[in-house]
Amino acid sequence: MEPSNRFPKSDEFKDVYRRNAAAYDRLVAREDYQGNVFAALNAIQPLHGLSIVEFGAGTGRLTRLLTVLAERIAAFDIEPAMLALARDNLTATGTSNWTLAAGDNLLMPVAANCADLALEGWSFNHVMAWHPEDWRERIDGMLKEMARVLKPGGVAILLETMGTGTRRPRIPNRRLKLLYHYWQESCGFDFRWVRSDYQFATPQEARDLLRGVFSESLTNTWLAAGMTLLPQCTGIWWRRFP
Ligand SMILES: C[S@@+](CC[C@H](N)C(=O)[O-])C[C@H]1O[C@@H](n2cnc3c(N)ncnc32)[C@H](O)[C@@H]1O
Repeated sequence: MEPSNRFPKSDEFKDVYRRNAAAYDRLVAREDYQGNVFAALNAIQPLHGLSIVEFGAGTGRLTRLLTVLAERIAAFDIEPAMLALARDNLTATGTSNWTLAAGDNLLMPVAANCADLALEGWSFNHVMAWHPEDWRERIDGMLKEMARVLKPGGVAILLETMGTGTRRPRIPNRRLKLLYHYWQESCGFDFRWVRSDYQFATPQEARDLLRGVFSESLTNTWLAAGMTLLPQCTGIWWRRFP
């Protein structure tokens, strides 16, 4: 199916990140209940003992998983409210091999050549809605920043949506199609996808958690009556830097 022009209002997510980080965090806790994303990451690049820089870490849902295997993780986000919740979440794990700080995806406050893995999850895509005029320059800048922080031979991994409410990958809109095409055709990234389904406790919980982050109409599009399992696909792009 051809991607539609539908795109969330550009302010929608900024507002969620700024004012409702807790709603975001509750929703993503129900996402990828089978652990496919983490398994795929570990298959692409075994995570044990790695030094990782994470771009756009949000409330730390990936960061927490990575603390189990990585040697250390330096995670950054631009939104203080997301970082505050990430700090609570990470502190609750009892681990100490992580740091969290404010940082723009275009300029990570870390030294060059410090990481084996540079990772972003569902963060770079925002450029398409927030900066439609110069998205390519900004994406180039973010990839350049990944290359800068990586040691020679390090890997950059990008995770982004390939559709919610679908069992097969379906890019949600034309702007994301442009972005993904750019990564694969012009930037040398390999690609695979995995299912990252939501599993909710009850149909009411599904509705409440989705509506905390997404619009009423998207929630209605995705959820049929009585649903607790919402299929979803996640794309994984990766590239090893010399
Ligand atoms: C959908 S959330 C993903 C968070 C996290 N990676 C996860 O897997 O849950 C997108 C995050 O990217 C952050 N973000 C957006 N643009 C950014 C930028 N230019 N620099 C740093 N963080 C950014 C937002 O503040 C938000 O926390």
